[in-house]
Amino acid sequence: MIRLGVNIDHVATVRQARRAKEPDPVAAAVLAILGGADGITVHLREDRRHIQDQDVIQLRKVVKNRLNLEMSVADEIVEFACQVRPDEATLVPERREELTTEGGLDVIAHHAAVANAIGRLRRVEVPVSLFIDPRLEQVEAAKNLGADAIEFQTATYSEAKTPAERLNQIALLQQASAHAVALGLHVHMGHGLNYWNVIDIARIPGVEELNIGHSIVSRAVLVGMERAVREMKEVIRSAHR
Ligand code: PXP
Repeated sequence: MIRLGVNIDHVATVRQARRAKEPDPVAAAVLAILGGADGITVHLREDRRHIQDQDVIQLRKVVKNRLNLEMSVADEIVEFACQVRPDEATLVPERREELTTEGGLDVIAHHAAVANAIGRLRRVEVPVSLFIDPRLEQVEAAKNLGADAIEFQTATYSEAKTPAERLNQIALLQQASAHAVALGLHVHMGHGLNYWNVIDIARIPGVEELNIGHSIVSRAVLVGMERAVREMKEVIRSAHR
């Protein structure tokens, strides 16, 4: 059975919109696990726009199945990850001006920085996954760097404009997955997956883990809205009893 890692960054985004205390990503993590999440994924960005250091520290205490920390190779972040020791660290590219992670990490171009981060994380026994494009040369570089896993970015697939482009992306993901499995790498995928486009991805042989955030948090807001409003109405009504 493929593991589902639920990315709860957006819960922190709502909280940070007001610099308030709610909604608490730790509470969201507990509920996600009750719903069947096999793990929780968060991205501690260098600009701390959503998840904060304290969230990760608390999540480390609460998440017993699998805490996956998405992170850049920045010195300060690697240092923090080595202290918190998530169950898995996923190295991603990061640019301050982007809305979300754009494309995979080029582990050939950034070989030295990635090797340094992998070395430091593995020294404290944190397995490392590399978020890469589904390209054979990136898979080989990931293997040579000593990664434990790779996470193929499915953003290009999820943004495909035509059926032909979509099929082409699935073929690339299939080929890259087969190659990664043959090299002994664990295969994860994520980015842009939703309740519709996840099906073809979940059918790709070798996939062990999917990391999904935006579509799940978006759906949680909608399916929870009716109840949230009903409860507020009830509280207002009770003031006059
Ligand atoms: N995997 C990685 C490496 C990511 O950076 C993200 C976004 O933070 C995700 C998965 C989840 O993507 P989405 O929010 O589009 O489901």
